[in-house]
Amino acid sequence: MTEAKKLFIKTYGCQMNVYDSERMAESLGTKGYVATDTVEDADMVLINTCHIREKASEKLFSDLGRLRPAKEANPNLKVAVAGCVAQAEGAEILRRMPLVDLVVGPQSYHRLPEMEAKVQRGERAIDTEFPPEDKFDHLPERKAMRGPSAFLTVQEGCDKFCAFCVVPYTRGSEVSRPPERLLAEARNLAARGVRELTLLGQNVNAYRADGYGLARLIRELSQVEGILRLRYMTSHPNDMEDDLIAAHGDCPQLMPYLHLPVQSGSDRILKAMNRKHTAADYLRVLDRIRAARPDILLTSDFIVGFPGETDADFEATLALIRKVNYGMAYSFKYSARPGTPAAEKPDVNSDVADARLQELQALLGAQQRAGQQAMVGQEVDVLYEKAGRQPGQMVGKSQHLHAVHVDDPSGKVGELARVRITDAKSNSLGGRRVG
Ligand code: SAH
Ligand code: SF4
Ligand code: F3S
Repeated sequence: MTEAKKLFIKTYGCQMNVYDSERMAESLGTKGYVATDTVEDADMVLINTCHIREKASEKLFSDLGRLRPAKEANPNLKVAVAGCVAQAEGAEILRRMPLVDLVVGPQSYHRLPEMEAKVQRGERAIDTEFPPEDKFDHLPERKAMRGPSAFLTVQEGCDKFCAFCVVPYTRGSEVSRPPERLLAEARNLAARGVRELTLLGQNVNAYRADGYGLARLIRELSQVEGILRLRYMTSHPNDMEDDLIAAHGDCPQLMPYLHLPVQSGSDRILKAMNRKHTAADYLRVLDRIRAARPDILLTSDFIVGFPGETDADFEATLALIRKVNYGMAYSFKYSARPGTPAAEKPDVNSDVADARLQELQALLGAQQRAGQQAMVGQEVDVLYEKAGRQPGQMVGKSQHLHAVHVDDPSGKVGELARVRITDAKSNSLGGRRVG
Protein backbone atom coordinates (compact mmCIF):
# COMPACT_ATOMS: atom_id res chain seq x y z
CA MET A 1 0.00 0.00 0.00
CA THR A 2 1.33 3.45 -0.85
CA GLU A 3 1.62 5.98 1.92
CA ALA A 4 -1.15 8.59 2.07
CA LYS A 5 -0.30 11.96 0.60
CA LYS A 6 -0.73 14.92 2.90
CA LEU A 7 -2.77 18.02 2.16
CA PHE A 8 -2.39 21.33 3.98
CA ILE A 9 -5.24 23.79 3.37
CA LYS A 10 -5.35 27.44 4.37
CA THR A 11 -8.69 29.17 4.01
CA TYR A 12 -9.41 32.89 3.74
CA GLY A 13 -12.67 34.73 3.19
CA CYS A 14 -16.28 33.89 3.87
CA GLN A 15 -18.03 30.74 5.13
CA MET A 16 -18.55 29.68 1.53
CA ASN A 17 -14.80 29.27 1.27
CA VAL A 18 -14.80 27.22 4.49
CA TYR A 19 -17.40 24.93 2.95
CA ASP A 20 -15.50 24.78 -0.36
CA SER A 21 -12.26 23.88 1.46
CA GLU A 22 -13.98 20.93 3.12
CA ARG A 23 -15.31 19.76 -0.21
CA MET A 24 -11.95 20.19 -1.95
CA ALA A 25 -10.33 18.13 0.80
CA GLU A 26 -12.95 15.41 0.23
CA SER A 27 -12.38 15.59 -3.52
CA LEU A 28 -8.60 15.22 -3.15
CA GLY A 29 -9.32 12.47 -0.62
CA THR A 30 -10.32 10.32 -3.61
CA LYS A 31 -6.68 10.67 -4.77
CA GLY A 32 -5.35 9.47 -1.43
CA TYR A 33 -4.82 12.80 0.31
CA VAL A 34 -5.33 13.17 4.06
CA ALA A 35 -5.27 16.42 6.00
CA THR A 36 -2.18 17.71 7.77
CA ASP A 37 -1.78 20.89 9.78
CA THR A 38 1.89 21.45 9.06
CA VAL A 39 3.29 22.74 5.80
CA GLU A 40 6.59 20.88 6.39
CA ASP A 41 5.16 17.41 5.90
CA ALA A 42 2.64 18.37 3.21
CA ASP A 43 2.69 16.95 -0.31
CA MET A 44 0.27 19.64 -1.43
CA VAL A 45 -0.45 23.09 -0.04
CA LEU A 46 -3.78 24.53 -1.12
CA ILE A 47 -4.56 28.18 -0.45
CA ASN A 48 -8.26 29.03 -0.72
CA THR A 49 -8.29 32.76 -1.34
CA CYS A 50 -10.55 35.79 -0.94
CA HIS A 51 -10.60 38.77 -3.31
CA ILE A 52 -13.05 40.99 -1.43
CA ARG A 53 -10.60 43.64 -0.22
CA GLU A 54 -7.05 44.45 -1.28
CA LYS A 55 -5.63 43.23 2.04
CA ALA A 56 -7.38 39.88 1.65
CA SER A 57 -5.97 39.18 -1.80
CA GLU A 58 -2.47 40.38 -0.89
CA LYS A 59 -2.31 37.58 1.67
CA LEU A 60 -1.97 35.08 -1.14
CA PHE A 61 1.25 36.64 -2.37
CA SER A 62 2.81 36.86 1.08
CA ASP A 63 1.81 33.22 1.74
CA LEU A 64 3.32 32.13 -1.56
CA GLY A 65 6.52 33.99 -0.71
CA ARG A 66 6.71 32.13 2.58
CA LEU A 67 6.25 28.79 0.80
CA ARG A 68 9.48 29.16 -1.16
CA PRO A 69 11.75 27.49 1.42
CA ALA A 70 9.29 24.59 1.79
CA LYS A 71 9.26 24.09 -1.99
CA GLU A 72 13.06 24.24 -2.11
CA ALA A 73 13.29 21.69 0.70
CA ASN A 74 10.79 19.42 -1.03
CA PRO A 75 10.71 19.85 -4.84
CA ASN A 76 7.79 17.38 -4.97
CA LEU A 77 5.60 19.74 -2.96
CA LYS A 78 2.66 20.88 -5.08
CA VAL A 79 1.22 24.36 -4.55
CA ALA A 80 -2.43 24.99 -5.44
CA VAL A 81 -4.39 28.24 -5.40
CA ALA A 82 -8.20 28.14 -5.23
CA GLY A 83 -11.00 30.59 -4.48
CA CYS A 84 -11.84 34.08 -5.61
CA VAL A 85 -8.30 35.40 -6.29
CA ALA A 86 -7.72 32.30 -8.41
CA GLN A 87 -10.90 33.13 -10.33
CA ALA A 88 -10.01 36.80 -10.79
CA GLU A 89 -6.28 36.57 -11.43
CA GLY A 90 -5.57 32.93 -12.24
CA ALA A 91 -3.41 33.39 -15.33
CA GLU A 92 -1.54 36.26 -13.70
CA ILE A 93 -0.77 34.09 -10.66
CA LEU A 94 0.75 31.38 -12.86
CA ARG A 95 2.78 33.98 -14.74
CA ARG A 96 4.09 35.81 -11.67
CA MET A 97 4.55 32.84 -9.36
CA PRO A 98 6.57 29.96 -10.84
CA LEU A 99 6.14 27.93 -7.65
CA VAL A 100 2.38 27.64 -8.22
CA ASP A 101 1.42 24.33 -9.85
CA LEU A 102 -2.34 24.52 -9.92
CA VAL A 103 -5.00 27.24 -10.09
CA VAL A 104 -8.67 26.38 -9.67
CA GLY A 105 -11.72 28.67 -9.52
CA PRO A 106 -14.67 28.24 -7.14
CA GLN A 107 -16.89 26.69 -9.82
CA SER A 108 -14.40 24.13 -11.14
CA TYR A 109 -12.96 22.46 -8.06
CA HIS A 110 -14.76 19.17 -8.75
CA ARG A 111 -12.11 18.80 -11.48
CA LEU A 112 -9.32 18.77 -8.88
CA PRO A 113 -8.60 15.02 -9.15
CA GLU A 114 -7.81 15.28 -12.88
CA MET A 115 -5.88 18.50 -12.32
CA GLU A 116 -3.86 16.83 -9.58
CA ALA A 117 -2.96 13.99 -11.96
CA LYS A 118 -1.72 16.53 -14.50
CA VAL A 119 0.37 18.26 -11.86
CA GLN A 120 1.87 14.91 -10.83
CA ARG A 121 3.00 14.50 -14.44
CA GLY A 122 5.00 17.69 -14.00
CA GLU A 123 2.63 20.00 -15.86
CA ARG A 124 0.85 23.07 -14.53
CA ALA A 125 -2.95 23.10 -14.40
CA ILE A 126 -5.43 25.96 -14.51
CA ASP A 127 -9.22 25.90 -14.57
CA THR A 128 -11.21 29.06 -13.96
CA GLU A 129 -14.16 28.18 -16.16
CA PHE A 130 -17.78 28.47 -15.19
CA PRO A 131 -18.41 24.91 -16.42
CA PRO A 132 -21.81 23.83 -17.75
CA GLU A 133 -21.98 20.85 -15.39
CA ASP A 134 -22.94 21.24 -11.73
CA LYS A 135 -19.84 20.72 -9.59
CA PHE A 136 -21.95 19.27 -6.77
CA ASP A 137 -22.95 16.36 -9.02
CA HIS A 138 -19.27 15.46 -9.39
CA LEU A 139 -18.11 15.68 -5.79
CA PRO A 140 -17.85 12.69 -3.46
CA GLU A 141 -20.41 12.29 -0.67
CA ARG A 142 -19.79 14.22 2.55
CA LYS A 143 -17.52 12.38 4.98
CA ALA A 144 -17.28 12.34 8.77
CA MET A 145 -18.02 15.82 10.11
CA ARG A 146 -15.95 17.70 12.63
CA GLY A 147 -18.80 18.70 14.91
CA PRO A 148 -22.54 19.09 15.31
CA SER A 149 -22.69 22.29 13.29
CA ALA A 150 -22.14 22.26 9.52
CA PHE A 151 -22.38 24.55 6.54
CA LEU A 152 -24.52 23.65 3.57
CA THR A 153 -24.14 25.71 0.39
CA VAL A 154 -27.60 26.12 -1.15
CA GLN A 155 -26.99 29.01 -3.52
CA GLU A 156 -23.97 30.58 -5.16
CA GLY A 157 -23.24 33.72 -7.06
CA CYS A 158 -24.72 37.17 -7.04
CA ASP A 159 -26.68 39.25 -9.56
CA LYS A 160 -26.80 42.40 -7.45
CA PHE A 161 -23.64 44.15 -8.64
CA CYS A 162 -23.11 46.47 -5.70
CA ALA A 163 -20.73 49.09 -7.08
CA PHE A 164 -17.85 48.14 -4.74
CA CYS A 165 -18.04 44.34 -4.89
CA VAL A 166 -16.09 41.68 -6.80
CA VAL A 167 -18.34 38.75 -5.86
CA PRO A 168 -20.57 38.85 -8.98
CA TYR A 169 -17.38 38.55 -11.06
CA THR A 170 -15.58 35.90 -8.99
CA ARG A 171 -18.60 33.72 -8.21
CA GLY A 172 -20.71 34.33 -11.28
CA SER A 173 -24.46 34.72 -11.50
CA GLU A 174 -26.98 33.35 -9.02
CA VAL A 175 -27.46 29.58 -9.12
CA SER A 176 -29.54 27.59 -6.63
CA ARG A 177 -29.03 23.89 -5.94
CA PRO A 178 -32.06 21.59 -6.37
CA PRO A 179 -33.99 21.07 -3.11
CA GLU A 180 -33.93 17.26 -3.31
CA ARG A 181 -30.12 17.27 -3.43
CA LEU A 182 -29.99 19.59 -0.45
CA LEU A 183 -32.42 17.44 1.52
CA ALA A 184 -30.28 14.39 0.71
CA GLU A 185 -27.09 16.17 1.80
CA ALA A 186 -28.84 17.32 4.99
CA ARG A 187 -30.01 13.76 5.79
CA ASN A 188 -26.51 12.48 5.21
CA LEU A 189 -25.04 15.14 7.49
CA ALA A 190 -27.67 14.48 10.18
CA ALA A 191 -26.83 10.77 10.06
CA ARG A 192 -23.20 11.76 10.74
CA GLY A 193 -24.13 13.67 13.89
CA VAL A 194 -24.82 17.14 12.51
CA ARG A 195 -27.53 18.94 14.51
CA GLU A 196 -27.28 22.46 13.13
CA LEU A 197 -27.13 23.55 9.51
CA THR A 198 -26.13 26.99 8.31
CA LEU A 199 -27.43 27.42 4.79
CA LEU A 200 -24.93 29.38 2.76
CA GLY A 201 -25.23 31.57 -0.29
CA GLN A 202 -23.67 34.79 -1.49
CA ASN A 203 -27.26 35.89 -1.66
CA VAL A 204 -28.96 33.07 0.14
CA ASN A 205 -32.43 34.56 0.40
CA ALA A 206 -32.52 34.78 -3.40
CA TYR A 207 -32.69 30.95 -3.33
CA ARG A 208 -35.12 29.78 -6.04
CA ALA A 209 -35.30 26.25 -7.42
CA ASP A 210 -38.08 23.92 -8.56
CA GLY A 211 -40.81 26.10 -7.07
CA TYR A 212 -38.98 26.46 -3.78
CA GLY A 213 -37.89 29.70 -2.15
CA LEU A 214 -35.66 29.80 0.91
CA ALA A 215 -38.63 29.68 3.32
CA ARG A 216 -39.98 26.45 1.86
CA LEU A 217 -36.51 24.93 1.82
CA ILE A 218 -36.08 25.84 5.49
CA ARG A 219 -39.43 24.33 6.39
CA GLU A 220 -38.56 21.04 4.71
CA LEU A 221 -35.06 20.91 6.16
CA SER A 222 -36.57 21.48 9.60
CA GLN A 223 -38.35 18.12 9.17
CA VAL A 224 -35.10 16.19 8.62
CA GLU A 225 -34.62 13.88 11.58
CA GLY A 226 -31.76 15.03 13.81
CA ILE A 227 -31.62 18.59 12.52
CA LEU A 228 -32.45 20.76 15.53
CA ARG A 229 -31.34 24.15 14.28
CA LEU A 230 -31.20 26.09 11.02
CA ARG A 231 -29.53 29.37 10.14
CA TYR A 232 -28.79 31.08 6.84
CA MET A 233 -26.44 33.70 5.48
CA THR A 234 -25.85 36.12 3.78
CA SER A 235 -29.06 37.87 2.82
CA HIS A 236 -29.92 40.96 0.85
CA PRO A 237 -32.62 43.30 2.26
CA ASN A 238 -34.48 43.33 -1.08
CA ASP A 239 -34.94 39.55 -1.01
CA MET A 240 -36.48 39.31 2.49
CA GLU A 241 -39.83 38.04 1.31
CA ASP A 242 -43.00 37.64 3.37
CA ASP A 243 -42.80 33.86 3.69
CA LEU A 244 -39.21 34.04 4.98
CA ILE A 245 -40.16 36.65 7.56
CA ALA A 246 -43.12 34.46 8.54
CA ALA A 247 -40.81 31.46 8.97
CA HIS A 248 -38.89 33.41 11.60
CA GLY A 249 -42.13 33.57 13.56
CA ASP A 250 -43.37 30.01 13.26
CA CYS A 251 -40.48 27.65 12.44
CA PRO A 252 -38.95 26.71 15.81
CA GLN A 253 -35.80 25.24 14.23
CA LEU A 254 -35.00 28.56 12.55
CA MET A 255 -32.76 30.39 15.01
CA PRO A 256 -33.52 33.99 16.07
CA TYR A 257 -30.47 35.41 14.32
CA LEU A 258 -30.28 37.36 11.09
CA HIS A 259 -27.26 38.76 9.29
CA LEU A 260 -28.70 41.45 7.02
CA PRO A 261 -25.98 43.76 5.70
CA VAL A 262 -26.96 47.36 4.98
CA GLN A 263 -23.47 48.82 4.28
CA SER A 264 -24.49 52.47 4.89
CA GLY A 265 -27.27 54.52 6.50
CA SER A 266 -27.12 57.28 3.90
CA ASP A 267 -29.55 57.12 0.99
CA ARG A 268 -27.15 59.02 -1.22
CA ILE A 269 -24.40 56.48 -0.59
CA LEU A 270 -26.78 53.52 -0.84
CA LYS A 271 -27.75 54.80 -4.27
CA ALA A 272 -24.12 55.26 -5.32
CA MET A 273 -23.45 51.71 -4.06
CA ASN A 274 -26.28 50.42 -6.28
CA ARG A 275 -27.92 48.77 -3.27
CA LYS A 276 -31.40 49.51 -4.70
CA HIS A 277 -32.95 50.23 -1.29
CA THR A 278 -33.07 53.17 1.10
CA ALA A 279 -32.28 53.24 4.82
CA ALA A 280 -36.02 53.47 5.51
CA ASP A 281 -36.72 50.37 3.33
CA TYR A 282 -34.15 48.46 5.36
CA LEU A 283 -35.56 49.62 8.69
CA ARG A 284 -39.06 48.60 7.57
CA VAL A 285 -37.82 45.08 6.83
CA LEU A 286 -36.25 44.89 10.29
CA ASP A 287 -39.48 46.10 11.93
CA ARG A 288 -41.37 43.30 10.24
CA ILE A 289 -38.81 40.69 11.26
CA ARG A 290 -38.87 41.93 14.84
CA ALA A 291 -42.66 41.79 14.83
CA ALA A 292 -42.47 38.13 13.72
CA ARG A 293 -39.65 37.22 16.12
CA PRO A 294 -39.15 39.81 18.90
CA ASP A 295 -36.00 38.20 20.36
CA ILE A 296 -34.13 38.12 17.03
CA LEU A 297 -30.49 39.18 17.13
CA LEU A 298 -29.56 41.38 14.18
CA THR A 299 -26.15 41.74 12.61
CA SER A 300 -24.85 43.64 9.59
CA ASP A 301 -21.86 44.66 7.49
CA PHE A 302 -20.79 48.27 7.03
CA ILE A 303 -18.39 49.98 4.66
CA VAL A 304 -16.95 53.37 5.61
CA GLY A 305 -15.18 55.72 3.23
CA PHE A 306 -17.09 54.70 0.12
CA PRO A 307 -16.22 57.24 -2.65
CA GLY A 308 -18.10 60.48 -2.04
CA GLU A 309 -19.01 59.70 1.60
CA THR A 310 -19.32 63.00 3.53
CA ASP A 311 -19.45 63.59 7.28
CA ALA A 312 -23.23 63.88 6.96
CA ASP A 313 -23.43 60.50 5.16
CA PHE A 314 -21.35 58.93 7.89
CA GLU A 315 -23.56 60.49 10.57
CA ALA A 316 -26.55 58.88 8.86
CA THR A 317 -24.85 55.50 9.22
CA LEU A 318 -24.23 56.09 12.93
CA ALA A 319 -27.88 57.17 13.32
CA LEU A 320 -29.09 53.95 11.65
CA ILE A 321 -26.88 51.86 13.93
CA ARG A 322 -28.29 53.65 17.01
CA LYS A 323 -31.80 52.99 15.77
CA VAL A 324 -31.29 49.29 15.09
CA ASN A 325 -29.10 48.32 18.06
CA TYR A 326 -27.08 45.46 16.55
CA GLY A 327 -26.02 42.36 18.44
CA MET A 328 -22.85 42.26 16.34
CA ALA A 329 -21.56 43.68 13.06
CA TYR A 330 -18.60 43.62 10.74
CA SER A 331 -17.23 46.89 9.43
CA PHE A 332 -14.65 47.61 6.77
CA LYS A 333 -12.78 50.49 5.29
CA TYR A 334 -13.68 50.76 1.62
CA SER A 335 -11.13 49.11 -0.64
CA ALA A 336 -11.18 49.93 -4.37
CA ARG A 337 -11.34 46.67 -6.33
CA PRO A 338 -10.19 46.38 -9.92
CA GLY A 339 -13.03 46.07 -12.41
CA THR A 340 -15.78 47.39 -10.13
CA PRO A 341 -17.61 50.64 -11.02
CA ALA A 342 -16.75 52.33 -7.70
CA ALA A 343 -13.03 51.88 -8.35
CA GLU A 344 -13.28 54.58 -11.04
CA LYS A 345 -14.23 57.20 -8.44
CA PRO A 346 -11.86 59.19 -6.21
CA ASP A 347 -11.25 57.74 -2.75
CA VAL A 348 -12.18 59.44 0.52
CA ASN A 349 -9.08 60.67 2.37
CA SER A 350 -7.56 57.61 4.01
CA ASP A 351 -7.11 59.17 7.48
CA VAL A 352 -10.70 60.39 7.45
CA ALA A 353 -11.89 56.88 6.57
CA ASP A 354 -9.73 55.39 9.35
CA ALA A 355 -11.18 57.79 11.91
CA ARG A 356 -14.73 56.98 10.78
CA LEU A 357 -14.05 53.27 11.02
CA GLN A 358 -12.82 53.67 14.59
CA GLU A 359 -15.86 55.68 15.60
CA LEU A 360 -18.23 53.21 13.98
CA GLN A 361 -16.50 50.23 15.59
CA ALA A 362 -16.64 51.90 19.01
CA LEU A 363 -20.41 52.29 18.66
CA LEU A 364 -20.93 48.74 17.37
CA GLY A 365 -18.65 47.36 20.10
CA ALA A 366 -20.65 49.14 22.79
CA GLN A 367 -23.91 47.73 21.41
CA GLN A 368 -22.45 44.24 21.28
CA ARG A 369 -21.17 44.41 24.88
CA ALA A 370 -24.48 45.80 26.16
CA GLY A 371 -26.32 43.00 24.35
CA GLN A 372 -24.09 40.34 25.90
CA GLN A 373 -24.37 41.92 29.35
CA ALA A 374 -28.17 41.85 29.03
CA MET A 375 -28.01 38.06 28.65
CA VAL A 376 -26.76 37.63 32.23
CA GLY A 377 -29.51 36.00 34.30
CA GLN A 378 -31.34 34.72 31.20
CA GLU A 379 -31.72 31.13 30.06
CA VAL A 380 -30.51 30.11 26.62
CA ASP A 381 -30.16 26.86 24.64
CA VAL A 382 -26.58 25.87 23.91
CA LEU A 383 -25.56 23.32 21.29
CA TYR A 384 -22.31 21.83 22.59
CA GLU A 385 -19.56 21.89 19.96
CA LYS A 386 -16.55 20.75 21.96
CA ALA A 387 -15.10 20.33 25.43
CA GLY A 388 -13.79 23.57 26.96
CA ARG A 389 -10.22 24.20 28.07
CA GLN A 390 -11.20 24.00 31.74
CA PRO A 391 -12.00 20.50 32.98
CA GLY A 392 -15.74 19.85 33.27
CA GLN A 393 -16.56 22.59 30.81
CA MET A 394 -18.37 22.47 27.46
CA VAL A 395 -18.36 25.14 24.76
CA GLY A 396 -21.12 25.81 22.27
CA LYS A 397 -23.37 28.40 20.72
CA SER A 398 -26.61 29.88 21.99
CA GLN A 399 -29.55 30.38 19.65
CA HIS A 400 -28.19 33.93 19.15
CA LEU A 401 -24.81 32.53 18.09
CA HIS A 402 -23.14 33.73 21.28
CA ALA A 403 -20.25 31.48 22.29
CA VAL A 404 -21.09 30.06 25.74
CA HIS A 405 -18.78 28.27 28.18
CA VAL A 406 -20.83 25.97 30.38
CA ASP A 407 -19.87 24.16 33.57
CA ASP A 408 -21.23 20.72 32.81
CA PRO A 409 -18.97 17.74 33.67
CA SER A 410 -21.39 15.26 32.06
CA GLY A 411 -22.02 17.34 28.90
CA LYS A 412 -21.55 15.72 25.50
CA VAL A 413 -20.77 17.14 22.07
CA GLY A 414 -23.96 17.48 20.03
CA GLU A 415 -26.21 17.88 23.07
CA LEU A 416 -28.62 20.79 23.32
CA ALA A 417 -28.52 22.09 26.90
CA ARG A 418 -30.60 24.64 28.77
CA VAL A 419 -28.16 27.06 30.35
CA ARG A 420 -28.49 30.00 32.73
CA ILE A 421 -26.04 32.77 31.79
CA THR A 422 -24.01 33.87 34.80
CA ASP A 423 -21.41 36.16 33.28
CA ALA A 424 -20.46 38.02 30.10
CA LYS A 425 -16.84 38.31 29.00
CA SER A 426 -15.62 40.30 26.02
CA ASN A 427 -16.09 37.55 23.44
CA SER A 428 -18.15 34.91 25.16
CA LEU A 429 -20.72 34.17 27.83
CA GLY A 430 -20.42 31.86 30.82
CA GLY A 431 -23.18 29.83 32.40
CA ARG A 432 -24.32 26.69 34.15
CA ARG A 433 -26.61 23.97 32.94
CA VAL A 434 -30.15 24.00 34.24
CA GLY A 435 -31.78 21.44 31.96
N1 SAH B 1 -22.99 38.52 -0.12
C1 SAH B 1 -22.78 39.18 1.07
C2 SAH B 1 -21.33 39.34 1.44
C3 SAH B 1 -20.47 40.15 0.56
S1 SAH B 1 -18.82 40.30 1.06
C4 SAH B 1 -23.57 40.45 1.09
O1 SAH B 1 -24.15 40.86 0.14
O2 SAH B 1 -23.63 41.06 2.15
C5 SAH B 1 -18.92 40.69 2.75
C6 SAH B 1 -18.82 42.14 3.07
O3 SAH B 1 -17.59 42.67 2.63
C7 SAH B 1 -19.85 43.03 2.41
O4 SAH B 1 -21.08 42.96 3.04
C8 SAH B 1 -19.20 44.38 2.51
O5 SAH B 1 -19.52 45.00 3.74
C9 SAH B 1 -17.72 44.05 2.50
N2 SAH B 1 -17.12 44.46 1.23
C10 SAH B 1 -17.39 44.01 -0.01
N3 SAH B 1 -16.65 44.65 -0.93
C11 SAH B 1 -15.88 45.54 -0.26
C12 SAH B 1 -14.92 46.51 -0.65
N4 SAH B 1 -14.61 46.72 -1.93
N5 SAH B 1 -14.33 47.26 0.32
C13 SAH B 1 -14.65 47.07 1.62
N6 SAH B 1 -15.56 46.18 2.04
C14 SAH B 1 -16.18 45.42 1.11
FE1 SF4 C 1 -21.44 41.81 -3.24
FE2 SF4 C 1 -23.67 43.22 -3.17
FE3 SF4 C 1 -23.70 40.76 -4.13
FE4 SF4 C 1 -23.35 41.13 -1.55
S1 SF4 C 1 -25.20 41.68 -2.72
S2 SF4 C 1 -22.19 39.74 -2.84
S3 SF4 C 1 -22.18 43.00 -1.47
S4 SF4 C 1 -22.65 42.49 -5.04
FE1 F3S D 1 -14.08 36.52 -0.43
FE2 F3S D 1 -14.98 35.21 -2.51
FE3 F3S D 1 -16.15 34.92 -0.16
S1 F3S D 1 -14.20 37.26 -2.51
S2 F3S D 1 -15.86 36.91 0.77
S3 F3S D 1 -14.10 34.33 -0.65
S4 F3S D 1 -17.15 34.96 -2.13
